[in-house]
Formats: sequence, structure tokens, C-alpha cells
Amino acid sequence: MAKHKEGPLRPVFIRDTAPVEMDAAPGKYFWCACGRSRKAPFCDGSHHKTGIRPLRVVLEESARVWWCNCKHTSTPPWCDGTHHQLKGKEGQLAEERI
Ligand code: FES
Repeated sequence: MAKHKEGPLRPVFIRDTAPVEMDAAPGKYFWCACGRSRKAPFCDGSHHKTGIRPLRVVLEESARVWWCNCKHTSTPPWCDGTHHQLKGKEGQLAEERI
């Protein structure tokens, strides 16, 4: 899944600087892309009126996954290690191309 880097800059919260590791069951998930959800790493509707939308993810089989929770990965929704560059900025707004 590639992130669209050509879009406008949008304010994204750095939710946390560690991914959420999970043994995920097959199914449909909505990954929070705005960093505002209280049910992170999943969407709770808090993106309303931000212009940022959650990313729909379908897992065909069970898998151990690492959901990005800093919201700045280049491989959404999966952690790519970018969070290491954001240590100490948890809870801050940072602009991101969506
Ligand atoms: S938690 Fe976002 S890149 Fe690792």
C-alpha cells in the first residue's frame, strides 16, 4: 500500500512513537490516519472534518502485524521505523502529506 505523497499537507497527530504489535485475525480494519482516535491504531470517527480519512485494510489470513501509531510511516498502515525519528514528539501535531 503506497501513501499518496502528492496531496495537501494535513495536520496529523503523532499518536505514539511505537507501533502496535498484534496477532490480527482475518477481517476488515480501518487504520486511523489522523492520530486523533481514542481507539488507536483503529479509527473511531475522530477524523471528522479534518479532511483525513482512515485507511481500509483487509487481511485475508491471520498475521502478526505492526500497526503504525506515529502516523508518519511511508508504508501505511504498517510500521516502517519512521517513529524512531519522532521520539519526544508524542501527542504533537505534525504536517503530513496524505
Ligand atoms: S509507529 Fe509509525 S513508523 Fe513505526
